[in-house]
Amino acid sequence: MLARIRSRCIGGQSDAACGETPTEYGRPIAVPVSRIRRVLPSPEEYRWFRAPGRVNLMGDHTDYNGGLVLPIAIGLECVVAVRPRDDGEVSLRSLDVVEDDWTRYVDAVREVIAPARGVDGVLASSVPPGSGLSSSAALEVAVALALGGGGLAPVELALACQRAEHLATGVPSGVMDQLASVASRADRALLIDCRSLELRYVRIPDDAAIVVVHSGVPRTLERSAYSERRAACEQIATVLGLGSLRDATLDQVLDEPLARHVVTENARVEQTAAALEIGNIVRVGELMLESHASLRDDYRVSTPELDLLVEQLVSAGAHGARLTGAGFGGCVVAIAPRKTATDIARVFPTAWTFEAANGAGPLSQP
Ligand code: GLA
Repeated sequence: MLARIRSRCIGGQSDAACGETPTEYGRPIAVPVSRIRRVLPSPEEYRWFRAPGRVNLMGDHTDYNGGLVLPIAIGLECVVAVRPRDDGEVSLRSLDVVEDDWTRYVDAVREVIAPARGVDGVLASSVPPGSGLSSSAALEVAVALALGGGGLAPVELALACQRAEHLATGVPSGVMDQLASVASRADRALLIDCRSLELRYVRIPDDAAIVVVHSGVPRTLERSAYSERRAACEQIATVLGLGSLRDATLDQVLDEPLARHVVTENARVEQTAAALEIGNIVRVGELMLESHASLRDDYRVSTPELDLLVEQLVSAGAHGARLTGAGFGGCVVAIAPRKTATDIARVFPTAWTFEAANGAGPLSQP
């Protein structure tokens, strides 16, 4: 049984409804820190923590197959401010509807972190839920830090938060989102080997703009075929006599579209890292287009809206684009020369241009 937690939601829609805060995808644009400061009588009595969302540049549906991924942390984040309380209770309120039934995530994080002390606090998030930008991982990691999880090694913290995600949703997701939120570094993409959990940092070339556009179609992993895809991949690996599809060769999976995606996508992660390292963003764009085609045709997780966005982004000047995250809705990520990012923003007024951000941690003097 999960521990019961007193949590409630205030603000959110009502902020927007009373015209105080402009919203974007139903989420106030103002940064979470300033919104939390406004509702705390004495903010300096609180300890503050932040955890970013992520956008994955390459390597989707590879993490749970023991494969490779290449995300960056982004400037959208979940922030939690807490102060200790003596009775061991965890009482958080949220300024946003951070997720459907968001308290189950807090509950699950408490379960895995087993904090020594209780806390009172407030949280807010600028990561839109259902966008494929890891709103739930940002929530889990920020809450885990607020409950004392910062004492864990980064990989352990990410694994604990992945367990919390499984507990909260029942979806057997991989570790990419939580590890990206915990371990990312500014100006770098994070190459994660999801079998060994080794991390490598890959510099993003200065002339590259990472542009993200929301399809407007929200996705929830629970309602998607995510679990079915994972089970099918494990089944194929078993038939091939392999521990995971990470060990499959292209020859072994030529007639298995799901496994073919995984094998070719792992190769594209390595090729993308190599292209970024030599500053060849045209090549990164080509690889993104190949990845999107593979996710669309072999892994079958795209939608007509995502396919159209990919085409439109290329017409607007991007070198390439692909769906990012689980698919079935959510966002498209593109790579473009910095000088064309403003042209793209003219075509897509709601596009974000993200710099690779630092991973989660405490905030001093917010
Ligand atoms: C979701 C999951 C991740 C990963 C991606 C697809 O974001 O949480 O673990 O599997 O989908 O790459």
